[in-house]
Amino acid sequence: MDLKELNRIANAMVAKGKGILAADESSGTIKKRFDAIDVENTESNRRDYREFMFRTPAMRDYISGVILFDETIRQKAADGTPLVEIIAASGAVPGIKVDTGAKPLALCDGETVTEGLDGLRERFQDYHELGARFAKWRATYDPTKTSYNCINANAQALARYAALAQENGIVPIVEPEVLMDYDNTVETCEAVTEWVLKETFQQLYYANVALEGMILKPNMIVSGKKCAKQAGIDEVAERTVKVLKRCVPGAVPGIAFLSGGQSDEEATAHLNAMNAGRTLPWHLTFSYGRALQAAPQKAWGGKSENVAKAQAAFAHRARMNGLAATGQWKPELEKQAA
Ligand code: 13P
Repeated sequence: MDLKELNRIANAMVAKGKGILAADESSGTIKKRFDAIDVENTESNRRDYREFMFRTPAMRDYISGVILFDETIRQKAADGTPLVEIIAASGAVPGIKVDTGAKPLALCDGETVTEGLDGLRERFQDYHELGARFAKWRATYDPTKTSYNCINANAQALARYAALAQENGIVPIVEPEVLMDYDNTVETCEAVTEWVLKETFQQLYYANVALEGMILKPNMIVSGKKCAKQAGIDEVAERTVKVLKRCVPGAVPGIAFLSGGQSDEEATAHLNAMNAGRTLPWHLTFSYGRALQAAPQKAWGGKSENVAKAQAAFAHRARMNGLAATGQWKPELEKQAA
């Protein structure tokens, strides 16, 4: 393992004022996004959509890395250029989602464990040849029913994945996501997230994962979407920073949040509130899927004549989140076009 190189890549992924574009929706997940904008889920539509995002000039200024799905890392742009080359030319690091999804955890009603470890060493070797220099594995937890069995099983899988990634010269993004879809309070989200992070770092230690060569991708501490009482921006920021300080060693170069179903502007405001006026041991930035792509998807609607408008919408969200990553975002900036 070349830890110096892994550390260099990890630092590039959380470079100041930049963050990660999570464009790794599986063909099933992107179908849901395309259904919402009335676009047919064909390989060429998926290619055209990703291609215009990766060709947006703002990538150079605000995007440090792009997470891809297996199909996309092998795909070529309309002119024959591999999409990976377009990403690398923008200065961003290409990455790959390697888990095969959350499956029901036996005898644990409603809980899941993420799968995908079988054959992963060989898949990492293949993805490295295709240009990937980082990877992602996402575990999910329902905070209304999480058991130690679920937390431990997912932490062990995350640790085995992270060790295999580092063995093969790939920086692991370790993503334990306490879901925000339920009616739980912010206090419950906080307690479950703390438990999940403690156990995850314990298993990373047992698996010999070098913290200097990984990135953590956690949820923020928010109220469940169906909870009557919703924590405000500052409360979310305070609680999230408090839990991260308790659980994440300073050796980790950076923490890149998922958006998890927050609105675009909430995701930006929360990140900004965490960074504004604080000195922290790690860089705090974004690794958003929905909160970066909802606006460009809507503007595009599958029509080539809308591409410039959609690229402007993507550039705007990328810039807003880039500013939030250094605590310099202001709500007034939302009114300006990119
Ligand atoms: P969201 O920002 O839409 O939660 O997606 C991030 C991600 O990569 C989930 O695994």
